[in-house]
Amino acid sequence: MPVHEIRHPLVRHKLGLMRRADLSTKNFREMAQEVAALLTYEASKDLPLEPTKIDGWAGELEVEKIAGKKITVVPILRAGIGMLDGVLSLIPGAKVSAIGIARNEETLQAHTYLERLVGQLDQRLALIVDPMLATGGSMVATIDMLKKAGCRHIRALVLVAAPEGIGAVESAHPDVDIYTASIDSHLNEDGYIIPGLGDAGDRIFGTR
Ligand code: PRP
Ligand code: URA
Repeated sequence: MPVHEIRHPLVRHKLGLMRRADLSTKNFREMAQEVAALLTYEASKDLPLEPTKIDGWAGELEVEKIAGKKITVVPILRAGIGMLDGVLSLIPGAKVSAIGIARNEETLQAHTYLERLVGQLDQRLALIVDPMLATGGSMVATIDMLKKAGCRHIRALVLVAAPEGIGAVESAHPDVDIYTASIDSHLNEDGYIIPGLGDAGDRIFGTR
């Protein structure tokens, strides 16, 4: 199933706090990273393992390690930075591919201003992180970019998703699974998710 709404009590609780308009920048920022870590836990449940021999305290033994090349985390700047440390807290060896995309406030079209992808993307799982999946324009553009660079295994982690954005990703890239803390109701006429979180970038960076 391509959309996974993570209804774990810790996720529900933290997201409920994040929806409060009076939450401080500090607390919003901390909770974005915490929910990102919880989504990472879910999105990494089926990663393939391989056996490896180690020297244990009582001699040699076989343990398991995650197979393949290191994962790349792909924050969509700016707001995606607000989830990056949460992912890295569980996958500290991951490589980071930064994508800069800003949505034009009037047309809602995604404009790309930065593309710094790591190498060997054909051998890596990419975990895209962005707090908000609204129209889906930013996410679809990011997936387009990753696939053009050879990436074949892509998952998207978003705090809140609108049905419109889920539909856009599903129709353009049905092979990409989405992990979200909540599927919200709809977009308003300005392209904001309702009930949503407001402008996630502004809330994370304190620019509102
Ligand atoms: C927000 C958000 C997503 C995008 C979602 O970023 O973080 O990247 O909008 O909207 P979409 O699904 O309609 O494309 P924004 O463009 O406001 O930039 P910022 O991260 O720099 O604040
Ligand atoms: N970007 C945001 O930050 N919030 C929304 O609700 C939609 C796009």
